[in-house]
Amino acid sequence: MSQKTLLTGLQPSGQLHIGNYFGALKPFVDLYADYESYLMVVDYHALTTVRDPEVLRQNTIDVVKDYLAAGVDPENAIIFKQSDVQEHTELAWIFECLVTVPFLMQAHAYKDKVAKGLEANAGLFNYPMLMAADILLYDTDVVPVGNDQRQHIEYAREAATKFNNTYGDTFTMPEERILDAVGVVLGTDGQKMSKSYKNTIPLFGSYDEVEKAVMSIVTDSEGDIPQNVYDIHRLFRSESELAEMYEEHKGKYADLKKLLLADIETVIQPMREKRASISDDDVRNILEKGKECAKARASKKMEEVREKIGIFS
Ligand code: ADP
Ligand code: TRP
Repeated sequence: MSQKTLLTGLQPSGQLHIGNYFGALKPFVDLYADYESYLMVVDYHALTTVRDPEVLRQNTIDVVKDYLAAGVDPENAIIFKQSDVQEHTELAWIFECLVTVPFLMQAHAYKDKVAKGLEANAGLFNYPMLMAADILLYDTDVVPVGNDQRQHIEYAREAATKFNNTYGDTFTMPEERILDAVGVVLGTDGQKMSKSYKNTIPLFGSYDEVEKAVMSIVTDSEGDIPQNVYDIHRLFRSESELAEMYEEHKGKYADLKKLLLADIETVIQPMREKRASISDDDVRNILEKGKECAKARASKKMEEVREKIGIFS
């Protein structure tokens, strides 16, 4: 039996935080050795928000460093940039011609933007179809993501179904892999941790940055257990260890925050050191190799797609 395919991607739109790590990156790291694995930097998706070319370039390099530091071995996973494989944007267009405008209007990312009274660009509107292409081009079986991406995977299945029904069986149905316990990592204010909300604990921040973020976790003035501290701490220790620790330091919020900081540091410190040893050139070489491998698989799939839809060369 051939190996199943695992694929995920992160946008190079800012510094990664521990929500990204526990929601998407760690599940990938835990699983990838048993699959044919693809790890993308989705730079065209980031273009829906990032307008500074230098920032996009630097963030792209940085995300790959984050992948490597988090434990992904480039010998065992294909690490590549979405923009290096033009088949992604090509297939997205084909899906856009199959789904309807009202369907895309139900997408959370688009709806939330509009609900906030902000103007969504057409790229954001079409975003789910580019993501569907990212996933379906590689006959992906499993997509490790955080809970907020669940709908996007449903959209990918819908694109696959529409295509398969119209042109015959072509695409594999992907499944999301969402870890219940960490479906949503909460930020320092108790809301979902997100780059957009300024409530993050940076994954590769300096000790001082991590300390500042942890000490700023909002705690209410009553109760023995500071819930927002506990919710983050849960990611680093078992419930039983925490029960003891929180009993011992009952009501001492600052002490509990320091204990959380120490636990975060135990995980991050070795990754931070590894990250510092990776050069931009190392990243460029890995991306070059990843491009070749991803391109080979995607271009074969696109030949099949073009043939089926009636495009010939
Ligand atoms: P952000 O909300 O910070 O912009 P992204 O949308 O770039 O994050 O998310 C990248 C990946 O990390 C996605 O798979 C997403 O589901 C996951 N993720 C982001 N924030 C969280 C969180 N707070 N908890 C769990 N997973 C998250
Ligand atoms: N939409 C995802 C996010 O914001 C990023 C993404 C793009 C992705 N293409 C993907 C994730 C394919 C998994 C698979 O986090």
